[in-house]
Amino acid sequence: MVLRTPRLVVRDWSEDDAAAAMAIYGRSEVARWLSPAVPVIADEESMRATLRGWIAENAASEAGVGHWALTLAGPDGASGRLVGGASLHPLPVEEQDVEIGWQIDPEFWGNGYATEAGRGLLERAFANDVDEVFALVRPANQRAEAAARRVGMTWVGETGKYYGLQLNVFRIRPSDLVAGRSPAPAAEQRSDAGA
Ligand SMILES: CC(C)(COP(=O)(O)OP(=O)(O)OC[C@H]1O[C@@H](n2cnc3c(N)ncnc32)[C@H](O)[C@@H]1OP(=O)(O)O)[C@@H](O)C(=O)NCCC(=O)NCCS
Repeated sequence: MVLRTPRLVVRDWSEDDAAAAMAIYGRSEVARWLSPAVPVIADEESMRATLRGWIAENAASEAGVGHWALTLAGPDGASGRLVGGASLHPLPVEEQDVEIGWQIDPEFWGNGYATEAGRGLLERAFANDVDEVFALVRPANQRAEAAARRVGMTWVGETGKYYGLQLNVFRIRPSDLVAGRSPAPAAEQRSDAGA
């Protein structure tokens, strides 16, 4: 187990996840936003090969960076049903900046699982010498933008540098994550503003 959040177990991928992962990564609602960064995965065998690649990358990665499976925590706290994946990986070309990516089974959208896993993984990365993380989001991908903002990321600009696409760039640093985690209640903000 890599991480336990209130409702999720974040764990390493296994090749045995291929069928369950294909049921998520093969869905057009998910795949349409991932290509070309993650090439379209056509069948279970390709999914297995992708998982093998991610497992190998994790073995060679710095602590806090990698690709992981997101599963529902069972009553005993063990890893249960696969609901998605998340990654913190170096952006291509210079490989210096770290990008976060999320993929949730559409049946489970709207439960806050991307936010919950994202916060946990960012906290872990920041504890392991990663000092800022970016998300590259297509302008039409409103769910991804909302998830980025929910973990505390802010829009810092646009880029045409990656994947041949025009993308919005969101960034988070450790202090943003703390702020995003404990938002002040609206009433408190109002009374502060008036003070
Ligand atoms: C991007 C993606 C991961 C976001 O998933 P999501 O379920 O919308 O995001 P979250 O996990 O943050 O959930 C937020 C929703 O859960 C609700 N929610 C319920 N409980 C919650 C909780 N405890 N915490 C936060 N939000 C909660 C929020 O109100 C929000 O609802 P809304 O969508 O009706 O506004 C998902 O849409 C996806 O897999 N898209 C395809 C792949 C993709 O585009 N990935 C991004 C590029 S890598």
